Amino acid sequence: MIKKGIILSGGLGTRMSPLTKAVNKQLLPIYDKPLIFYPLSILMLAKIKDILIIVNKGQLNQFKNILPEKNNFGVTIHYKEQLKPKGLPDAFILGEKFINKSNVAMILGDNFFYGQNLSKLLINCAKIKKGAKIILHNVQNPELFGVAKLDTKNKKIIKIIEKPKKFISNNAITGLYFFDNNVVKYAKKLKPSKRGELEITDLIYEYKKRNRLKFEMIGRGAIWSDAGKIEDLSNVSSYVKSVEKVQGIKIACLEEISLLKKWIDKKKIA
Ligand code: DAU
Repeated sequence: MIKKGIILSGGLGTRMSPLTKAVNKQLLPIYDKPLIFYPLSILMLAKIKDILIIVNKGQLNQFKNILPEKNNFGVTIHYKEQLKPKGLPDAFILGEKFINKSNVAMILGDNFFYGQNLSKLLINCAKIKKGAKIILHNVQNPELFGVAKLDTKNKKIIKIIEKPKKFISNNAITGLYFFDNNVVKYAKKLKPSKRGELEITDLIYEYKKRNRLKFEMIGRGAIWSDAGKIEDLSNVSSYVKSVEKVQGIKIACLEEISLLKKWIDKKKIA
């Protein structure tokens, strides 16, 4: 089982300026809690409780106030600063010491997942021993994401492109990835793309070309959204509000997940 996870929570949040001038995007509210609680809850549902959060230089204290290294959520949190947004695979270079000899999951700090059978899917993904697993979700605007084209007969990925200008498929590659320990070695070999960043699609391609890439599809019973634009924040907030109000439950209640996993007891919650 993968036991270590990274939440990549840096970035400049320029698409959300001026909100992000003083506060990192991942700390902005999604209804009743900070955005970062949602991806953290996803790692916890995958039974991952050793977590590295990568943040922008100078924003460490903002994060530590909300998610201290020693906390009541039953997880261990480590922090690392990223000096410049060099691209998603930089997480594995910055996280080399944390990852050590383990396999590792990574989730982007602005990604929201919710729905039926998600816990089962996550625990399954965390079982990978060799290779990589990515999670796909059907979208109407694939040009905004990394996209995978499938050969549906063989259930294989045949093409991966970051933000394709020409349509290849509706399968967006979500910001949740499960990798074996080779990820550090492969990330270090990558060269920046034309836009000057290391690309996650190039990293995933390292696994594809070795025939070591698998995927899971998020079906109709679940939703995924990345809060990349201002309207995503309000859409996801409204969604969380509706579910929590109608069903009388909480989404991404970290203490509740921890209690169910038996990482903390009722006394600690009280
Ligand atoms: O959300 C899924 C998509 O995320 C994938 O489909 C794409 O393949 C992937 O490239 C990524 O696309 P985005 O355009 O959403 O990436 P963005 O630059 O917005 O970064 C995603 C998150 O990672 C965001 O919360 C900021 C953080 N980040 C980003 C970079 C480039 C960092 O912390 N450091 C970085 O160097």
